[in-house]
Amino acid sequence: MADFALTAPDRTIFGRGCRDQTVAEVGALGARVLVVRGRSVAWVSELETALATAGIAVESLLSQGEPSLPEVRQGVETARNFGADCILAVGGGAVIDLGKAISGLCPSDGDPADFLELGNARPRHLSDPLPFVALPTTAGTGAEATRNAVIGVPDRQMKISLRDPRLLPDLAIVDPALTDGAPSALTMATGLDAITQLIESYLCIRANPVTDALCSATIPDAMRALCRLAKAEDPAARDTMARASHLSGLALANSGLGVVHGLASVIGGRGGAHGAICGRLLAAALTVNAQKARQLDMSMQRFEAVERWLAEALGANPGQGIVALQAFVTAQRVPTLAQLHVPEADFYAVAEQALTASSTKGNPVPLSAQDITDILAQAARG
Ligand SMILES: [Fe+2]
Repeated sequence: MADFALTAPDRTIFGRGCRDQTVAEVGALGARVLVVRGRSVAWVSELETALATAGIAVESLLSQGEPSLPEVRQGVETARNFGADCILAVGGGAVIDLGKAISGLCPSDGDPADFLELGNARPRHLSDPLPFVALPTTAGTGAEATRNAVIGVPDRQMKISLRDPRLLPDLAIVDPALTDGAPSALTMATGLDAITQLIESYLCIRANPVTDALCSATIPDAMRALCRLAKAEDPAARDTMARASHLSGLALANSGLGVVHGLASVIGGRGGAHGAICGRLLAAALTVNAQKARQLDMSMQRFEAVERWLAEALGANPGQGIVALQAFVTAQRVPTLAQLHVPEADFYAVAEQALTASSTKGNPVPLSAQDITDILAQAARG
């Protein structure tokens, strides 16, 4: 067994209705709070009023989508000008990543680009971040449980992570009720992201006993819950997906991921939704990875477990789990690779870029650019 270390948010509160604890919890951490929020969650306005009523000074920052370097710069400036002593992010993964980046960069002198792995110079170390509270409103990325913030760098068409164990939130408040009634396309994309993160963490070369326990206990339930949500609104299934999302964040932060997320980091730079990219690629990546593992005479135990969990959850015959997953993705109208701005002519170039992505380094088998091109070709056919 390989060595491992574990990280997690300092504290997590999980449960339907637990958002009611937000004002008291945030008030214990700061008196001047920058609220980073998305557009779509009306409850955040109520929360801001409640924070102000409790005597907490509030400044609001609207996230524009997946954070870009210019948006991060602007957010850091807003936090500094306001004199924020605490950052509260309420929203999806992009909002939480923006809040996380601001909490890390606000106390650190210099330009945000100095702290990113942009190739040439070694990134600078962050000063101690501001206290950070993350409150997810989607069940997908598990960003409230990870130590990195994904930041788009427009002039490179790439997404790069700001990484530091101290970026883990001081508190994650996970209330599944905030995901009730989410639109179907969002539910599917975010849910498939969570499932991809759990499966890639389970298969990752750096999986450890804790991530194994998290993933094996969660993958079957999550796939079943997502199937239920494909048919109808279901609060119990929402609870399951919110838990799966959070645990997927804990897992990936402690094991790593694989080629699907390596590809997503490249393809995401073209503007497609992260969860849709993961969902579109997962079945093809599992197929090619399993073929490679067989060729290399590796143990197939983990691949067989994933195949069995998928088949059972999707109601497929034994051995047909990955096929059933691909059919589910297609039935749910997850965008195609062409719709995600990846034409066939670009497959090899995208594959070459994905080879060097940090997530790909955790893939269970070594892959060539041609293997990754095969994943893209299979996903396009699926
Ligand atoms: Fe992801």
